[in-house]
Amino acid sequence: IYSDSEKASKAVALEIASLIRERAKEKKPAVLGLATGSSPKKVYQELIRMHKEEGLSFKNVITFNLDEYYPMQPDAIQSYVRFMKEQLFDHVDIPLNNINIPDGTLSIEKIPEFCRDYDEKIEKLGGLDFQLLGIGRNGHIGFNEPGSLINSRTRLMTLDISTKIDAAIDFGGLEKVHKKAITMGIDKIMHAKRVILLAWGEHKAESVARAVEGPVTSDIPASYLQQHNNATFILDETAAAALT
Ligand code: F6R
Repeated sequence: IYSDSEKASKAVALEIASLIRERAKEKKPAVLGLATGSSPKKVYQELIRMHKEEGLSFKNVITFNLDEYYPMQPDAIQSYVRFMKEQLFDHVDIPLNNINIPDGTLSIEKIPEFCRDYDEKIEKLGGLDFQLLGIGRNGHIGFNEPGSLINSRTRLMTLDISTKIDAAIDFGGLEKVHKKAITMGIDKIMHAKRVILLAWGEHKAESVARAVEGPVTSDIPASYLQQHNNATFILDETAAAALT
């Protein structure tokens, strides 16, 4: 628990940077699972600063984003491809081929194969070295909505009403929010060697408390992280307010 999200984000960015540098020394890739949304923005800002001011290179970084709305064009304002370019990728030296984000432009019949390939690509690299997460007010991680199983794979998911309400502002109204998204499953998140979940603000306090202190249940997918051996919730004081 940190006094504010800025200090917390700097600590998280430092951990990611150390991992990238360590793997570079070993001449190995750092395989990162990344999130979008408001929670990781300051972490990405700090990583960009470290790239510009401290020579942190992303040449050995391979990324897998958690999710993308479906359908979605990559240049659309709500696209997570666009988000990642604006918030991180356009400002660092990551090779374009090293970036993986679920493809919102696929025809529906191509999605199962795409999802299998996405998981296989992660497996072939030996799994994710690090997974960055946010948490939904309904306890989702990625777009693994309540009901998602611990061994769920990358797949097309129907969005929960609370997720759509939270996305309404980006889409210009609830009725315009896309009904589906492609999300990495819980399985790859649980097999990541290190997991950090970020939560800032009072509106996250209840889902954080249920995830950390409640029973492990598919009703709150983030609660599965209680069973991960190297997962940390990084919170500001308001997001931690409902913990006992
Ligand atoms: C985003 C994602 C979601 C968000 C969560 C919190 O890629 O997978 O699970 O992390 O909805 O969103 P913010 O950070 O906007 O509160």
